[in-house]
Amino acid sequence: MNIVDIILDKRYGRELTDEQIRFFVRGVTDRSIPDYQATALLMAIVLNGMNEREISTLTLEMASSGEQNDLSFVGDITVDKHSTGGVGDKITPLVMPLCSTFGVKTVKLSGRGLGFTGGTVDKFSSIEGFNIDIPKDDFPKYVAESGMVISGQTPDLAPADKILYSLRDVTGTVKSIPLIASSIMSKKLASGADAIVLDVTCGTGAFMKTFEEARIIADTMIKIGRNAGRKVIAVITDMDQPLGNYCGNVLEMREVYDTLRDRGAGDVEDVASIIAANMIKLAGKTGGLSYEELIKECKTRLTDGRALKEYIKLIKSQGGKVTEDGPSYVDEPVEVYKVKADSSGFIFSIKTNELGHCSVALGAGRITKDDDIDYGAGIRFMKKRGDAVLEGDTLCTLYVGRNSKLLNDKETVESIAARVRASYNISTARPLGIRSVIDVVGDK
Ligand code: URA
Repeated sequence: MNIVDIILDKRYGRELTDEQIRFFVRGVTDRSIPDYQATALLMAIVLNGMNEREISTLTLEMASSGEQNDLSFVGDITVDKHSTGGVGDKITPLVMPLCSTFGVKTVKLSGRGLGFTGGTVDKFSSIEGFNIDIPKDDFPKYVAESGMVISGQTPDLAPADKILYSLRDVTGTVKSIPLIASSIMSKKLASGADAIVLDVTCGTGAFMKTFEEARIIADTMIKIGRNAGRKVIAVITDMDQPLGNYCGNVLEMREVYDTLRDRGAGDVEDVASIIAANMIKLAGKTGGLSYEELIKECKTRLTDGRALKEYIKLIKSQGGKVTEDGPSYVDEPVEVYKVKADSSGFIFSIKTNELGHCSVALGAGRITKDDDIDYGAGIRFMKKRGDAVLEGDTLCTLYVGRNSKLLNDKETVESIAARVRASYNISTARPLGIRSVIDVVGDK
């Protein structure tokens, strides 16, 4: 078999055989296929697509390109969750303890932030002492202690995806349904859970800009999961605005704590409750509640202190410092700018990805994978879509960490603030039909 013929087949729109796909993934993993040929095939896939069988084979081959987790030690149905990414997405630290109140054990492998979307690993790392690098062999110990464990992905999980993703990132081949679906699902399958709840984000702050695109990718991932013998539900959620009231690592983890202690933003409570309800359902731990009753019960437990107790247990079990005021953080956000509305009206639309990029520019994320993070940096959103504003009202406030260079760089802060202001479209019309959870599809 020869890679040039495989590239030509896809270039001319022909179906690839399972053997051709296997040859490609193995050649990428052992580096016998050079990057330029791998990239040529990726571009042919972007342009000519893949059918369901090809996508499933590609996913399974990437999933088995490295180690595959065995979660049988949990002794119960294991459920994983994954978000396709967004700005202000703090759902994982909320749903793990919430599921735990129903006796659902979670083993979660998460990624770092790259690009404009945040990463769960970075969020947990903003808690003083929290150990996010838990060796796989120690998972049983942590699950026995708190019922939960969260760890960064090891380089050995789906290494073919790691190589292909880094090529896609720099060759204009990220956006493609077969490539996104197989990339996400290969990691989920290798993570070993029996069931998976996908949070498929859609809107200006997501890969999928429209509901139709989100629905196609959701259906594709559900089929891949089913073909691999896993149960999958996809919750399609709104990313036409940031989720909740904050983005940035310490700021978001404080928002998590405040939500669990008392009350959160409406969209955060809705998304967390619906995702948790679907995880609990797939784990078979509904306790006889109907789906609607389960969502209501999740909403109650999310903020009445029961999930908080589990959250503190998780933090302490992984070495995080907790005082009577809550978790301690590695930095203290310092407010550096108030971004004001330059006209009156309603917040009609928001360029959410641009807000994510601005948060990265403040230091909250990485531009290249080796960049350091400023854990204290981020943005507080005071106005959301549909809110009425008067000229001069504060739309959001910008933060940096206490050692940030930007504390003495007014010019850069002002240029970021100008980009933030330009991300808001203020109109005389009020937007209609804003929903944080748009649809739920899959193994209901
Ligand atoms: N997240 C992934 O893991 N892979 C993609 O291709 C896109 C989002």
